[in-house]
Amino acid sequence: MKLVFLGPPGAGKGTVAQVVEKDFGIMQISTGELLRAAIQCETELGIHAKYYMDDGNLVPDDLVMALLKQHIDTSECKSGYILDGFPRTIPQAEALIDAEIQIDRVVNFSMTDALIIHRLSGRRIHRETGRVYNLNPDGHPHPPADLEDNMLVLRKDDRPDAIQTRLKVYHEQTEPLVGFYQKRNLLLQLDGAKPSDVLCEEIRVALGH
Ligand code: AP5
Ligand code: MG
Repeated sequence: MKLVFLGPPGAGKGTVAQVVEKDFGIMQISTGELLRAAIQCETELGIHAKYYMDDGNLVPDDLVMALLKQHIDTSECKSGYILDGFPRTIPQAEALIDAEIQIDRVVNFSMTDALIIHRLSGRRIHRETGRVYNLNPDGHPHPPADLEDNMLVLRKDDRPDAIQTRLKVYHEQTEPLVGFYQKRNLLLQLDGAKPSDVLCEEIRVALGH
């Protein structure tokens, strides 16, 4: 099973992908996470990617495609994978086709810009484990009550100016992929505003799992 999770920033792709990964026994491949790991290790790619990511811009297609290929070809991905945040441009989707990588289903999480800004301003990452939490009353998961505030950090690209750039980039470069995959009859449309357990159930039902 090869899935693509498509959608605007903060729509819950990563949160749902972690559940689907366990449910379906397939690997979550988040290009955003891979790039953040490269930044942390200060690899050549990481140093290059940081320049784009911190401000909310996309990393050049060829760099992301090369990174993705390294991971897809590992044995852990043999039984399938979820591409979380890839493709994000039409050339990236075409690169998948050129590489003869056949996607079974594209799950699109739709959400309004207002809710995206609200969600992302409440997101916090655990400094040590990388776990993703949300501080908003209507966000989830909430951090454990006994967790010290200084253990939670804001992602650099969750600053208000970077969120605005990510939204603009999403509408210009990524949203056209909805039509691209609709034409190919691969699209499963979800309302990202719903709770994530509801979204996971909708995916299970739609994929007959
Ligand atoms: P990436 O890390 O993929 O960021 P993104 O697409 O902007 O998406 P996010 O990870 O911000 O959101 P998400 O949809 O995973 O939501 P989450 O589950 O965290 O990419 C970062 C950057 O890397 C890009 O800007 C770009 O520079 C670069 N990059 C990556 N891929 C690339 C590519 N293919 N090409 C070029 N460049 C690339 O949830 C958000 C928050 O809401 C969390 O706090 C969570 O706890 C909460 N929450 C989740 N679901 C719900 C729910 N249903 N109800 C309430 N709260 C919820
Ligand atoms: Mg994510």
